[in-house]
Amino acid sequence: MNILVTGGAGFIGSNYLLMMVDKYPEDYFINVDSLTYAGNLKNLVSLGDRLNYIFYKVDIHDSTALEAVFRKEKPDAVIHFAAESHVDRSIENPLIFAETNVLGTINLINYARKYGVARYVQVSTDEVYGSLGQEGFFTETTPLLPNSPYSASKASADCFVRAAVETYGMNASITRCSNNYGPYQFPEKLIPLMIWRALEGKPLPVYGDGLNVRDWLYVDDHCLAIDTVLRQGQSGEVYNVGGHNERTNLEIIQEILLILNKSDSLIQFVTDRPGHDRRYAIDASKIKQQLNWVPTTNFKDGIKKTVQWYLSNEQWWRDILSGEYQSYYSDMYINR
Ligand code: NAD
Ligand code: DAU
Repeated sequence: MNILVTGGAGFIGSNYLLMMVDKYPEDYFINVDSLTYAGNLKNLVSLGDRLNYIFYKVDIHDSTALEAVFRKEKPDAVIHFAAESHVDRSIENPLIFAETNVLGTINLINYARKYGVARYVQVSTDEVYGSLGQEGFFTETTPLLPNSPYSASKASADCFVRAAVETYGMNASITRCSNNYGPYQFPEKLIPLMIWRALEGKPLPVYGDGLNVRDWLYVDDHCLAIDTVLRQGQSGEVYNVGGHNERTNLEIIQEILLILNKSDSLIQFVTDRPGHDRRYAIDASKIKQQLNWVPTTNFKDGIKKTVQWYLSNEQWWRDILSGEYQSYYSDMYINR
């Protein structure tokens, strides 16, 4: 298959490519990424000159540039990761979330249809379901009740994918995963933020009372779930993905401090995020029962591996904090 992957220079997309380009040497991976602040080609250096991988610096909101990639590469499948992904940024500037997450998705759907793409996977999020109380889980039939501009844009994109299945008969599935953690996560997100700030001895900003709950999944398990849905998922179906691993934010931070042997006194409670969802928890029984996917990394091992990765790759996050990473370009990777 020729697989067009959008957002492959971001956190989950780069983990996906690092795993799949080697796992499937007979497939050809076309990475389309506009390299926003969240995209980092350094993540993909180890792909080197792989013959089954190519990179295009293209904005999915730019119809002409996107169509040129479809025309040239004729993908058989699309996996759509590219998005503005940070909730706090969506509160500051919702418009870019509509442009990339909604209009960008509509562009992709249009060209996937026009160029006869056989299979399409929309990488969505559990945040489209809104917030849970103390009990219960999100299932695939939970109503969409997004609370942030980010989740509103992702829910809207999901609706366009659903409409493409119903209206044009497109062969598409949607995955809705809980919070990921692991290598290459941009250091604005909770886990990497707390790791680098603790290492620097800086205060750790905890929103509200720190008792909001997220359901954490190691990124490789999400990548494996997406690959499973690509190859075995049914058209028109939504698949929830999660590790059944609920933790409060405070529990997460305390675990990181314990691994790093740093003091709790770094914790600083700050003003809450507006519209802050209280609890996410995923019921992933559909993907487990129908597609035989199971998470393989438990949280204790995953968080230790993750902290170790940030310790061993200090230059990676320091280059991001200094802004140096954005000056890294290699002609080898760009539109060859
Ligand atoms: P990320 O912010 O780390 O990476 C996003 C990537 O998309 C970057 O490489 C960026 O350059 C690229 N991009 C952004 N706008 C673009 C545009 N207009 N055109 C082309 N490329 C563009 O995000 P992530 O955490 O890797 O998330 C990937 C996907 O997974 C997103 O769709 C997100 O909604 C979804 N998701 C994330 C999580 C999580 O915990 N991180 C959980 C569930 C679902
Ligand atoms: O659930 C999946 C979603 O998980 C993805 O769709 C999003 O793309 C991804 O960013 C993530 O969203 P969250 O808002 O849950 O992630 P974030 O890392 O921003 O925050 C996790 C929790 O930690 C949340 O309750 C807010 C809190 N938090 C976050 C930051 C950055 C803090 O208390 N302090 C902080 O400084």
